[in-house]
Amino acid sequence: MSSAPRRPGQPALPPPVSVRLDSSVASLWQHRVDQHVRDWYMGLRLQKFPEDLRVYEHLLWEYQPNVVIELGGHRGGSALWFRDRLVALARYRPLGRPLVVSVSLDTTPAREGVALRDPGHADSIVFIDGDVRDPDLPGRVAAVLPGEARCLVVEDTAHEYDTTMAALAGFGRFVAPGGYFVVEDGIVDVAGLRPVNAGWGGVLLAIDEWLATDDGRAFTVRRDLEMYGLTTCVRGWLHRRPSD
Ligand SMILES: C[S@@+](CC[C@H](N)C(=O)[O-])C[C@H]1O[C@@H](n2cnc3c(N)ncnc32)[C@H](O)[C@@H]1O
Repeated sequence: MSSAPRRPGQPALPPPVSVRLDSSVASLWQHRVDQHVRDWYMGLRLQKFPEDLRVYEHLLWEYQPNVVIELGGHRGGSALWFRDRLVALARYRPLGRPLVVSVSLDTTPAREGVALRDPGHADSIVFIDGDVRDPDLPGRVAAVLPGEARCLVVEDTAHEYDTTMAALAGFGRFVAPGGYFVVEDGIVDVAGLRPVNAGWGGVLLAIDEWLATDDGRAFTVRRDLEMYGLTTCVRGWLHRRPSD
């Protein structure tokens, strides 16, 4: 299936998943995993479970960030979704300037997709080309943040050990006490949850090792945030303790 932006007016629906009461949860899970990489937001590819989007909304309401740092942007649907949520949140709670910083090896597809939907996005979405493993990348991201940044960080790049560790080590510092760092797709490391054709990635190992570091010890894994039962962010909802 192509993931090019859909034209305005065209229906943008993911393939349906039908549930039979006599089928297993494992079967439902695999269909949902397959579906979530074929979903859309405003006609742009958005690869997240609806359940996870709801969890994000809870975190946005609770922590009230004005900045989302997204590592791994793909086609721009997720950057646009986070931006639109931040703008919506700002209607209810006074925040600083809403901003999404979206980082990818090559942001061209995301830039083009977002520009198609919102030509005036430049003041609220900044794209940065870079490798999450590049030690200079955190500094480049810091340079575009507004002074009053309260950051939520989302790691959604390659779902491998080195990219996950680099994201945590390089970007954990952007999360203030009380804030959140979300590592997506730890499902690659869980037999039965990993997508067909995916192999072990090392995401969960990287999380565990980083949590044992000086920076990581400030965070706890919030398994209670896997509240809707289905999540791709297994052991990945990381909360920085409010009082450290
Ligand atoms: C799973 S997709 C992101 C999905 C998107 N966040 C969403 O929810 O729709 C992964 C993205 O990470 C990028 N990526 C992969 N390895 C990377 C790396 N080492 N550094 C930065 N970006 C990387 C890919 O190019 C791709 O855009």
